[in-house]
Amino acid sequence: MTVRIGVIGAGWIGQDHIRRLTHVITGAEVTAVTDLDAAHAAEVATGVGARALPTGQDVIAAPDVDAVLVTSWGPTHAEYVLATIAAGKPVFCEKPLATSAEDCLRIVEAETAYGRRLVQVGFMRRYDAGYRAMKQVIDAGEIGVPLMVHCAHRNPTVPASYTSAMAAQDTAVHEIDVLRWLLDDEIVSVQVVTPRRTSKRLEHLQDPQIMLFETANGVRIDLEVFVNCQYGYDIQCETVGESGLVRLPDPASPSVRSAGRADTAVVQDWRERFPAAFDAEFQEWTASVAAATAPTGPSAWDGYAAIGDATVQALESGRIVGVAMKDRPAFYAGGTAGGTAR
Ligand SMILES: NC(=O)c1ccc[n+]([C@@H]2O[C@H](COP(=O)([O-])OP(=O)(O)OC[C@H]3O[C@@H](n4cnc5c(N)ncnc54)[C@H](O)[C@@H]3O)[C@@H](O)[C@H]2O)c1
Repeated sequence: MTVRIGVIGAGWIGQDHIRRLTHVITGAEVTAVTDLDAAHAAEVATGVGARALPTGQDVIAAPDVDAVLVTSWGPTHAEYVLATIAAGKPVFCEKPLATSAEDCLRIVEAETAYGRRLVQVGFMRRYDAGYRAMKQVIDAGEIGVPLMVHCAHRNPTVPASYTSAMAAQDTAVHEIDVLRWLLDDEIVSVQVVTPRRTSKRLEHLQDPQIMLFETANGVRIDLEVFVNCQYGYDIQCETVGESGLVRLPDPASPSVRSAGRADTAVVQDWRERFPAAFDAEFQEWTASVAAATAPTGPSAWDGYAAIGDATVQALESGRIVGVAMKDRPAFYAGGTAGGTAR
């Protein structure tokens, strides 16, 4: 069966996923596209032989759409995910699942009431070979019990619409998700320390931020979020255990010696850093939709667990903030290939 997919939001990642679904993975076909910019939606849709539809609701309701991909702006995600659940169709939502814990919980409740898992969240790092290798090392006990994790999430630059809260809501969600999965642990408190601001960009923005998380098992995590670092898209992660450490490998790129220098290129964005992870994520998701089985990747519960309300409060108050999570419903119990629900 070819899964017919409708896409809401044809921006950077929407177009990249449309290319992936059309030309890279098997078993999927994009049949409908919408965007706030109708002319742009028409152009993107035409490029892959799909229809452009006026709104996200039209995409969700379309009879030739078996499953929905939400790649619009974060604050619009909850509305479309909830509508897709109401229509009884599977939905892949790019991160974040929603921009508040309250909205994430509404999605969790709607999906639980529906009675079958329909939602997968785009935390693709769980599919990355480097993170998977790290997890194997940790799970095999090779570094002993994990004690500390040092992380950095650096982007060259962000648009003017990026706010200080988005460092938690839009950026650190990736680390929170992948660290919950890597450590099999939950974050219980967070503090945000604010270094001197970079002069390179955006008056309104607190950038960088250092987020300090504590887990239920007492692991301490420091995460530098620096979204105007200028030099590249740089994701670092090092887990220190009782008897060793494991470090995320940098993406393979050749070392060039020329003009008296030895250089290795730094990738510039997420498309270059995680292409294989995105491909694997979509291949697996498409297969689950085709087989009408539960998605194997990060769940709506994982989307809720990663959302940064406490981190935003910690930034705004300057205090250590406890993370108050609801109890996980039994509906989300059990491990999966994407390493999901816990
Ligand atoms: N997994 C990752 O690493 C990763 C990487 C990049 C972006 N993202 C996420 O993907 C989402 C989109 O990011 P982007 O970089 O593509 O942004 P973008 O601004 O390039 O694209 C978003 C598109 O959605 C459209 N849109 C917004 N609201 C809409 C609505 N209500 N109906 C229809 N179209 C609408 C906009 O017109 C725009 O074309 C964000 O949530 C972002 O956090 C995830």
